[in-house]
Amino acid sequence: MKLLDLNKVYRRRNTDSVKWDHMDFMDERTSETTLPLWLSDMEFKIADEILDTLKNRVEHGFLGQSMPGNEYLDAVCGWYQRRFDWTIDKESIFYSPGILPAIGFAIAALTKPGDGVIIQPPVFYPFSEIIKGQGRTIINNTLINENGDYKIDFADLKEKASDPNNKILLLCSPQNPIGRVWTKSELEQIAGICEETNTYIFADEIHCDLTRKNVQHFPIKTITDYKNIIVAVSPSKTFNVAGLPIASIVIDDNELRKIWLNETKGKYYIRFAPPLDMVLSKAAYAQCEYWVEQVLEYIEDNYDFMEKYLKEHLPKTGYKKPEGTYLAWVNFGAYADYEELLETLISKYDLLIESGAIFGEPGLGYFRLNIACPRSQLEEGLSRIVAAINDLT
Ligand SMILES: Cc1ncc(COP(=O)(O)O)c(C=O)c1O
Repeated sequence: MKLLDLNKVYRRRNTDSVKWDHMDFMDERTSETTLPLWLSDMEFKIADEILDTLKNRVEHGFLGQSMPGNEYLDAVCGWYQRRFDWTIDKESIFYSPGILPAIGFAIAALTKPGDGVIIQPPVFYPFSEIIKGQGRTIINNTLINENGDYKIDFADLKEKASDPNNKILLLCSPQNPIGRVWTKSELEQIAGICEETNTYIFADEIHCDLTRKNVQHFPIKTITDYKNIIVAVSPSKTFNVAGLPIASIVIDDNELRKIWLNETKGKYYIRFAPPLDMVLSKAAYAQCEYWVEQVLEYIEDNYDFMEKYLKEHLPKTGYKKPEGTYLAWVNFGAYADYEELLETLISKYDLLIESGAIFGEPGLGYFRLNIACPRSQLEEGLSRIVAAINDLT
């Protein structure tokens, strides 16, 4: 088996990279030298099989319009069948230029202005931006935080889903940023409440492959027959190709498919898909499982490294190894004022990590760190945090 060198550090500046070249997108105090441990974008070079297939496709010399064909659909179905025992009907798969646009299409199609869309903060902040942008109302089913252990408030979810004005639950499964992988029982309860109250579920399962050893992700479609569910999956996080716009939207119900097609094909003429995305997905799903497995091992070790490092240098840190994603969710409140620490990290220690507050008010006090990077970068980032905290205490 091919062994990856995941310790290798690559130069990524000057590639229009959001993570490296556009940090001011998140914080204008950053500079050209800032170390970016933010955004969900890995520092691991993508698999050779993906690179080769992209090169070959470009060298073919034609990049005309393309559409998802059987080979692509087989590759997608094969992956989810093998990894999750989830049988997807090819007819259920619809191309979307990303999951976030798909959330926008679903909200536009299934709700009217003013209607409520339920989210579970702290959660991936574009969810609330899209809801606001569409003139809908954000309904918070805030997660219960018991010293860093997050749980769903089912009584509150039931109350909010029972309000006929609240039409959709945007479910992040696994959950970014807190890193929970919802259990079968939690998902059954969510599906049960939504079915009982006739609430649509849009399940964003983009992080489904990025789970720890011994933690299992359950695609929501494998645990319920509730028909009003839209699931979004994508190779983008799993294979580190988030710069290419691609997602597979899975819709089993015929009525819901019609609504979806009316919104996407009918209103926005989304019929074709980029040819590079098609070949990339085929290569990724069919040939690159080995890459994902090695990256997952490395991420697991990075989390363990971080745990040990924090225990040694900042033992009062609120930190728990997440069940999924490659994002750490950390609370340094025992040591420093949150705003002061953020300021010191950026201005004096040239490190960008994300403030938990951007994921909603319940994220206040936390930071989100992307640990999908060579260990040397992670260690450098952690040492800057320790130095900043030492400055402030
Ligand atoms: C939970 C979640 N959903 C969606 C996205 C982005 O999806 P896309 O680029 O396909 O719109 C991300 C990226 O970080 C994410 O973490």
